[in-house]
Amino acid sequence: MYKAFFNLARNPFDLTPDPTCFVSTRRHNEALAALYYGVRWHKGFVVVTGEVGTGKTLLLRCLLRLLKESKDIAYAYLFNSRLSPTEFLQYILSDFGLAASGKNKSELLLDFGQFLVARGAKRLTTVLIVDEAHHLSEDILEEIRLLSNLETTDDKLLQIVLVGQPELDEKLDSLGLRQLKQRIALRAQLGPLDGEETAEYIAQRLQIAGAEAHRDPLFPQDAVAAVYRHSKGLPRLINTICENALIAAYARQQAAVTPDLIEDVAREFRLDVVYSREAGNTGRHSEAEIRRATDVLLDLFANLRRPAATNNDSGIPEGADATKVEM
Ligand SMILES: Nc1ncnc2c1ncn2[C@@H]1O[C@H](COP(=O)(O)OP(=O)(O)OP(=O)(O)O)[C@@H](O)[C@H]1O
Ligand SMILES: [Mg+2]
Repeated sequence: MYKAFFNLARNPFDLTPDPTCFVSTRRHNEALAALYYGVRWHKGFVVVTGEVGTGKTLLLRCLLRLLKESKDIAYAYLFNSRLSPTEFLQYILSDFGLAASGKNKSELLLDFGQFLVARGAKRLTTVLIVDEAHHLSEDILEEIRLLSNLETTDDKLLQIVLVGQPELDEKLDSLGLRQLKQRIALRAQLGPLDGEETAEYIAQRLQIAGAEAHRDPLFPQDAVAAVYRHSKGLPRLINTICENALIAAYARQQAAVTPDLIEDVAREFRLDVVYSREAGNTGRHSEAEIRRATDVLLDLFANLRRPAATNNDSGIPEGADATKVEM
């Protein structure tokens, strides 16, 4: 509605987790690197956790976009984690293109095992990716642990990526799941952005949406500071506040967002957010290794993003329904 008024090509703060809008921050970069290299280097288990709205699903969509570039990778993508163990196996088998209906659990496991061994023999990579993994029941986590046992003497046959809110960490800490936890090779955590990152995030999202660099900023410094105060650096909240502030500025025919508009939006949305800053970067992976790899990965991702950003102005990310498998 306001795009023409502000001279923008698209909505800068759309809530869809769209890889073409990816803003690279240190934490997001490290988490994406952990995901990508965990899969590429056959580390077995990778876990990414983060508060609500910190960009986990977006990261997974970025990962899927990267994986789609490799013909030797097949993945199953699960986001509805509330399944029984048999439904879970049926879901992943059919997502891998295998016949699943009417089979019992041991038949499903047998077929899946054969599929993994055949792919492993050809040195192909097979990945199971679960978003919203904090909803997984202990039964399903146990199934996942059993699947992670499928390995040859020198290689893991199935790469497993679990992404979810911090309760996932708590679940993995619980007594019954210790064995699963011991298998996690790479771990990353997402947290809120700091003040500087918030400013950079807003600037970059505006730039991706076509805001002209030479114009007076749509969000001057004091407005950005107010966004940070109310969002506490949580990307989804930043988007909500900024989107509504733009609508309000448009309604008043103001060329820029002022702090009082942000205050109005915050009041309207009752943004008294509970959040936690304790998310640090923990994990057993080598930070230097990941940092080096991140540079290479970001170049690769920037290349992928460029044509997509110009070709796809629908706001719908390619691969948004990335449940398909490439064999
Ligand atoms: N690094 C980033 N670059 C661009 N946009 C981001 C980034 N991180 C988060 N966002 C945006 O923030 C919003 C929330 O992201 P997303 O849906 O991925 O969060 P989430 O962690 O999966 O949340 P939930 O826990 O509710 O599932 C989306 O609009 C997403 O595009
Ligand atoms: Mg999500």
